Amino acid sequence: MKRFASIVSIGAYAPPKILTNADLEKMVDTSDEWILKRTGIRERRIAADNEAASDLGVCAAKIALERANRRIEDIDLIILASLSGDFHSMPSTACVLAGKLGAKNTPAFDLLAACSGFIYALSAAKAYIESGMAESVLLVGAEAASRFIDYSDRSTCVLFGDGAGACVLAATDDPKKAVIDVEIASNGKKWDFLTIDGGSRSTIQSGGAPYIKMKGHETFKIAVRIISASAAAICKKNGVTSEEIDHFIPHQANERIIRAVGTALGIGEERIVLTVDRYGNTSAASIPMAINHIYEEKRLKTGDLMLLDAFGGGLTWGSALARFAG
Ligand code: COA
Repeated sequence: MKRFASIVSIGAYAPPKILTNADLEKMVDTSDEWILKRTGIRERRIAADNEAASDLGVCAAKIALERANRRIEDIDLIILASLSGDFHSMPSTACVLAGKLGAKNTPAFDLLAACSGFIYALSAAKAYIESGMAESVLLVGAEAASRFIDYSDRSTCVLFGDGAGACVLAATDDPKKAVIDVEIASNGKKWDFLTIDGGSRSTIQSGGAPYIKMKGHETFKIAVRIISASAAAICKKNGVTSEEIDHFIPHQANERIIRAVGTALGIGEERIVLTVDRYGNTSAASIPMAINHIYEEKRLKTGDLMLLDAFGGGLTWGSALARFAG
């Protein structure tokens, strides 16, 4: 009998501090009108001074574990996706999170695929479960991206926010509860489109500040084409029509990108999940936060078919088709 991975719960946490467009108007030469029109963002959340990515992740993970009716002892792998981990490189944020959750000897690792981190981590979790190497996986996307933002750079500071999302995946033999397929891809020739300095390359280059830098317009131009193609390909491969998709839940970077992809795929407005207005771009956390949003609004039902997609630094991108089994 074929073994599948199944998303059995979802949880999310957004820190309470809100940074509005009006707040940003006082910090840089921008306007609420520009930000809203170009990005769809109204406000974003900012982690407290004593909160790092792992702290946000722990809050989301506890909710996901409780909703899955599982204790941390029941989890046999933890994967954490982030571009704003607690430490530069060591220890992994996954290990810090595992310690805070009370995990004992549970393997835990970070996965870096920038804003595509959740989709990449989902593909890893699926592979671990389907191969029999794991029965249940805790998957966390957690970002304290604000720590890597230059709040004098209007081209980036209006975009990003902090938050975390988590889900528990478990083995099942029921295809109606399965993560059906995950496709991931990259184009390393365009690595310089989105960067954060501070790694070993910084000593070779000019020693830049560890801030998110983005070739926004260039990224924007190719994002719609690449994500639309990726999402259309995974649907075609699996014989899924756009009418069959209950929820299109893309990475929340820019409302214009999301709407353009939705139109290209022929997915009606009412099935497109948008949270970018309230959280901005929370990178690897944005998809699980968006899934949680419709879960808490009681729009997400057991068995619903979700189309997920993401695009980010690397460049990386990917799409997933999954039925919700919570
Ligand atoms: N407020 C006001 N003006 C701003 C601004 C801000 N916050 N940020 C940039 N501008 C200005 C620019 O300086 C530029 O001015 P100029 O024409 O005088 O040079 C003008 O607005 C247009 O800038 P541009 O970068 O071409 O705008 P855009 O329509 O591409 O929108 C982004 C900018 C960042 C919103 C958009 O490019 C984007 O969303 N990019 C992709 C993000 C993404 O998907 N990232 C990958 C995943 S993380």
